[in-house]
Amino acid sequence: MPKIYTGSLQLDWYNKQKAILLANSSEVSSIEMTPAPKVNWVNKDEALFYEINEDEGRGLRPFWVDRNDIRIKEARPLTLQKVYSAISINSQGTLPGMQMTYEVVESQSEEIQFENILIKGDNLLALNAIKKIFDNKLESEKVKCIYIDPPFNTGQAFDYYDDNLERSEWLTMLRDRTVILKSLLREDGFFIVHLDDSEVHYCKVLMDEVMGSSNFISHVTYERSGVAGLGQGGFLVNTTEHILLYRNVLPPLGNNVGSYALDENTIRRYNRILNNTGDSTLVEEFISKSNKKPVKIFKHSNFEIETISLSNFKEREAEIRRIYAKNLNFLFRGNQVQKENSFQNDLIDKMEKDCLYSVIYTPSRGRFKDEETTLYYFNKELLSWLGDNAVVDGDDIVKSLKLTTLWDHEDIPKADIANEGGVDFPRGKKPENLLKRIFDLCTNEGDLILDCFAGSGTSLAVAHKMNRKWIGVEIGNHADTHIIPRLKNVLSGSDQLGISKKVNWKGGGSFKYYHLGSSIIKIQKDTSGDFNWSLGKHFIEESLLHSYDYILDTTIDLSADNLFSNKEELPVVGVQRIGSRNRVAIVSLNEPEGNLGNLAYEELQALYIAVKKKYAPEYINIFTNRGIEIAFDSKPDDLEVVKVPHAIFAELEK
Ligand SMILES: C[S@@+](CC[C@H](N)C(=O)[O-])C[C@H]1O[C@@H](n2cnc3c(N)ncnc32)[C@H](O)[C@@H]1O
Repeated sequence: MPKIYTGSLQLDWYNKQKAILLANSSEVSSIEMTPAPKVNWVNKDEALFYEINEDEGRGLRPFWVDRNDIRIKEARPLTLQKVYSAISINSQGTLPGMQMTYEVVESQSEEIQFENILIKGDNLLALNAIKKIFDNKLESEKVKCIYIDPPFNTGQAFDYYDDNLERSEWLTMLRDRTVILKSLLREDGFFIVHLDDSEVHYCKVLMDEVMGSSNFISHVTYERSGVAGLGQGGFLVNTTEHILLYRNVLPPLGNNVGSYALDENTIRRYNRILNNTGDSTLVEEFISKSNKKPVKIFKHSNFEIETISLSNFKEREAEIRRIYAKNLNFLFRGNQVQKENSFQNDLIDKMEKDCLYSVIYTPSRGRFKDEETTLYYFNKELLSWLGDNAVVDGDDIVKSLKLTTLWDHEDIPKADIANEGGVDFPRGKKPENLLKRIFDLCTNEGDLILDCFAGSGTSLAVAHKMNRKWIGVEIGNHADTHIIPRLKNVLSGSDQLGISKKVNWKGGGSFKYYHLGSSIIKIQKDTSGDFNWSLGKHFIEESLLHSYDYILDTTIDLSADNLFSNKEELPVVGVQRIGSRNRVAIVSLNEPEGNLGNLAYEELQALYIAVKKKYAPEYINIFTNRGIEIAFDSKPDDLEVVKVPHAIFAELEK
């Protein structure tokens, strides 16, 4: 007759076993010649738990907890508040090409097809819940672009959120979120972090640690405000923000060529056409000192250079653009040769003013290394050609340049940022044009975008207007007062500010609005605790697995052998893969008012055998509040029994 084992184990098993698996796994250990630099801070090994003041709609000051504390690991339920959908109200029916008009209807129904989601609550907990949804999704359904614009940690309190954490708190806050965010990304996905100079340098090193330094793509400097900021305090006026771009695993496809109408400044710079090079005569030939190849200088006569008049630019813009499109490859600007460039200066010295020269030579380095190349000079200046940087598209000219890492006012017109989205969100709201550029670079139509510091909802509105899918999270009450009204205007098509005109946005689509549900644990006033049984036994069982990083396996059929004939009693199985190794957890709970019976020896044996057969795991953990019928000395070494919720509370009390 087996003895009944009811001993209580603490959660130390979790770290101990994971450490052994990680140490043994050859697939995950990488040999680093020189360890990458890491940013360190007080309490880096711990985590922060954000409690929310529901009345104020703000996160309370977070407090430190263990990184395995269930309060920050658990996947809470998402409780649906409303579904918002745009419904066509065209009375005449819809004909091809006809303008649709929409009205937004609100419902509670889950029936309406799911498109986008907004969650109100702390984003760490929301991300745990999202991770649970994504665990069973295909790679192609995961997130293509994560954009986050967290509080910059400027040490100030804004109208809608506080921005004043200790650096160690801020770094912990960001690290814990970025680690989960990375797990939601597609392999060809992008991770973009938007900050100012308060924390960006620490964040770069932290992001290198989370994403891998070789996955860093670029650091964009973005000009947020111009001279308007002159009234600001500080030694220098801070006019820039910083955007860090990372890829996930795969290098970005293509070269991220932008497609932007040529701006007026560029047009003004390239306003001369070399219509005709005329006749050329060799005036000098010599051997280059650097590569011993010949250099030939030709002087041109009867050449023709035309200067395009740009007067009344605005009124004549279409006509001017047509002239540019027709002459693209012959439009040029002159560049003064730099003092340090002795080769160029030697050439210039041999030329006369107001004359056209061409030089045939073979560069010894650079893009055209070892290729015979012709350069033109006019009036002692080297010519650069608009056609090297632009292509013609119809009557217009479209830049085909790779973008640079400096995005200034000219690049990102701020237009009417204060009014964009019809909501007031001073010093937090980002211009829609900026988000459009980021999403143009990193996503295609239909891709999923995630922003878990949604603020006034700019990224969500832009993603929606660009026909991307989106997930947004916001902790503050402005989820209700700003994001929802803003998105309703996007759905109805009445928001015609921001990028609407550029993308010809007319309305449509839907989104679901969720709140974060209650925790699976309930701590009483006297600090004793239990599971929050109101969530239901099954939810708690699954959530427990997700909280400790197990992925649910619904394929093991335990009902077949009649041992678990009652479906309600079926244990839940989760698996965790570390390299080539597996660890399996089985959860079997009985609700307190139910029969807290034992897990019979035969049931345990059937479970053990089924799991061993399928996964050959390194460890099997059984989480249960039931008794276990097993002789202590016959318990296999790879089987651990964890009595919950006692073990969890023992951990919380540490
Ligand atoms: C700089 S704002 C984002 C502004 C946004 N990009 C826009 O254009 O409106 C940062 C936002 O993050 C939110 N936030 C801060 N901590 C959070 C948390 N733990 N969970 C969810 N949101 C959080 C703040 O309430 C604030 O709205």
